[in-house]
Amino acid sequence: MGSSVERALEVLRDGGLVAIPTETVYGLAADASSDAAVARIFSAKGRPTDHPLIVHVATAQHLAEWAAEISPAAALLADTCWPGPLTLLVPKAAHVSAVVTGGLPTVGVRVPAHPLTTELLQRFGGGLAAPSANQFGKVSPTTAQHVLADLGHLVDYVLDGGPCPVGVESTIVDCSVDPPQILRPGGIAAEQISALLQGRLAPSAGPSRAAGMLAAHYAPTATVLLADTAEAAHSLAATRAGAWVLDRTDDLVEYARCLYADLRDADLRGVAIVVAVLPPPTGLGHAIRDRLTKAAATT
Ligand code: TXA
Ligand code: MG
Repeated sequence: MGSSVERALEVLRDGGLVAIPTETVYGLAADASSDAAVARIFSAKGRPTDHPLIVHVATAQHLAEWAAEISPAAALLADTCWPGPLTLLVPKAAHVSAVVTGGLPTVGVRVPAHPLTTELLQRFGGGLAAPSANQFGKVSPTTAQHVLADLGHLVDYVLDGGPCPVGVESTIVDCSVDPPQILRPGGIAAEQISALLQGRLAPSAGPSRAAGMLAAHYAPTATVLLADTAEAAHSLAATRAGAWVLDRTDDLVEYARCLYADLRDADLRGVAIVVAVLPPPTGLGHAIRDRLTKAAATT
């Protein structure tokens, strides 16, 4: 672990794995143009090979290198929201490997906003395929220490960029369909995407077409129960020995930023039950509700 972009570059050029800081969560990165390097991501995470990876690039100009076609909506979102917590799904360019896309005809691309990773991507030149740097199905890492605790020796280098300021993953917008559709709520609010697209957005209800978007995900060892209000959470917790109430609904930015660290903290302290208060479904509340609901699901 360290903060040497030079060392991270060497490892990536050698086909190794580097944990990279982003504004959302830490990613487990490999050279997206090397099937052998990308295959190492799947084995380190224990991730099924049909779950596609996001390709991270330095600037919005690089989108054209990965997309066969850029719709006006994709161009608008890329220009307005990048660098930032947004992933765009676009029809993939011919050279993009099926190992990266899980065999899909689309590829997810994003420009992360973190100074160390921006420098790394600029100097690397190509794209870095990276899922969140956690064991498959577990809570995403928001610090370099979380990455070490989860993946330890399976990563060749952890580029320590401090704690991630957003704390939940990017919003995924499928721009390969018309109108575009939000497949995963995240760091950029659905309301903002909808406003930019002047409401031309397909409803995100219904079964997701994305492999890897399982009902149960982001799960700590503790059992997670959900409550709609603080009062309900406290009365539920009162009936269970040693239950913790998780409630940061007074500040949704803080709720998102601390969410995964809070869940990990509960596990470290041996808490058996976390009763989480659901924030309202607005702004970052969409993403927090999504992650808490998945953390609470058992299948
Ligand atoms: O904020 C983020 O997006 C973080 C940081 C590291 O960039 N990355 C992240 O990656 O959350 P991951 O792999 O944990 O989640 C990406 C999700 C998966 O559910 C995957 O199935 C979906 O994106 N995905 C990626 N490419 C896709 C594609 N072509 N079609 C459908 N879903 C896709
Ligand atoms: Mg993940």
